[in-house]
Amino acid sequence: MRATILGLGYVGLVTAAGLAEREHDVVGVDVDERRVRTLANGIVPIHEPGLQSLVESGLASGRLRFTTDAQAAVSAAQIVIVAVGTHDGHGGWQTRTMVDTLAGIVEHMADDATLVIRSTLPPEFVARLEIIVSQLRADVGRRPIPVLLNPEFTREGRAVRDFLEPDRVVIGVAIDPGGRGVNALTRLYRGVQAPVLRMSAIEACLSKLGANLFLATKISFANEMALLADAFGADVTEVTRGMSYDTRIGGAFLRAGIGFGGSCLPNQVTMTVRAARAVGIEMPLIAAVGEVNARQRSMFVARIASLVGDLRQARVALLGLAFKPDTDDLRDAPSLDIARELIEAGATVVAYDPVPSAMEHAAALVPGLRLAADVRNVLLGADAAGIVTEWPAFREIAWSDVRHLMRRAIVVDGRNALDPAAVAAADFIYASFGRDVVAHAPRPAAEPIVPDVGVVSLPLSAVPD
Ligand code: UDX
Repeated sequence: MRATILGLGYVGLVTAAGLAEREHDVVGVDVDERRVRTLANGIVPIHEPGLQSLVESGLASGRLRFTTDAQAAVSAAQIVIVAVGTHDGHGGWQTRTMVDTLAGIVEHMADDATLVIRSTLPPEFVARLEIIVSQLRADVGRRPIPVLLNPEFTREGRAVRDFLEPDRVVIGVAIDPGGRGVNALTRLYRGVQAPVLRMSAIEACLSKLGANLFLATKISFANEMALLADAFGADVTEVTRGMSYDTRIGGAFLRAGIGFGGSCLPNQVTMTVRAARAVGIEMPLIAAVGEVNARQRSMFVARIASLVGDLRQARVALLGLAFKPDTDDLRDAPSLDIARELIEAGATVVAYDPVPSAMEHAAALVPGLRLAADVRNVLLGADAAGIVTEWPAFREIAWSDVRHLMRRAIVVDGRNALDPAAVAAADFIYASFGRDVVAHAPRPAAEPIVPDVGVVSLPLSAVPD
């Protein structure tokens, strides 16, 4: 089928490349000329496993094209998918981009085409959507078109797989007399081995929101269990393992630590509480999920402070900046709050992330943050190492081999990613979340150690001493 995707962010780009992979004829549209040019040259500007090769093969086969010309792209399409942003960047919704996009395309769509909204929508906008589209068609005297919601449930770092092998496909019907739109969208997903769930548009919208809110709740729940575990001397990973065999509960999203970040979960928690309040509903559970999540970040800083003592004298190495592994995304990444809080308390903070773009971006967002080129350099002279993102490379660090690089042997593991016994065996003081706060009794500061590596940190940005 001929599909046009508007908005080439994470969601839109993965959708466009994934549909081309499924042998549809796809045009990706964005208002950002530079992004379109870059993509047309086969360069994917975001770090997402598998996406680069999908875009390359789409371009090579001729099934995937990119343009800024929305009008031409939508008028030739059988299905038009809108995937523009709906966050305002400050914990709220914004629908201006969506409304402007619709105003630019709806009148140009063919009479037999179907409009599909893939962006996550605020619930109150769903009813307006139908009115806006119907009005735009009526204004130019064109026939009504089907309007559907098709929310995405993709995780960053797994977005390609989540698109090609989804758990389910949700189709929300806003306008579709005769079912022509649902037929078209079902054809677009032909070959996908997943249940296709048809429901009303508002049900689709709330099921997307509900899925994210539930995942966020599970994480904050695990973080409260971690407090209990710490208080009573248990290991929270054993506790959640014991829970997870109950098929009603399951084991996913119960990893305790510094909590959730990213473009979806934190925003949607905040936005839901606000949007509910606007219609006179209080959501104390979801509000608490957000509060617990914010607390985890401060708790990480407090844990470092309690082990190093005076933060003003301390050099803290942060391992990882992205909000989770396999992405360079820093949107609402816990690392940013953590780095700011540590710097504000007077600590010298040096960070390393395996993806250079994440580091450069973080340095621009957090004044005073220093960068290191690799694991050894970030640890050089540090009083404590903080695991912020559980990149596989950090799990593989042989702590006994890097012990001599650090001024003091302290690791605070914000992702419960390391084996406490192995780190303690390397003579480190180790703290994590819900797994015995201190796995090794604190000792006085070791003598300063002469580093055996020639390169000093900060080769990436010239941050003054
Ligand atoms: C999420 C949803 O999973 C996805 O379905 C939706 O479409 C978009 O939002 P994403 O933001 O990419 O996806 O990341 P996800 O893998 O869900 O992780 C979110 C955050 O929660 C990360 O910061 C992660 O480190 C954290 N997390 C996850 C935990 O702290 N504990 C867990 O057990 C799981």
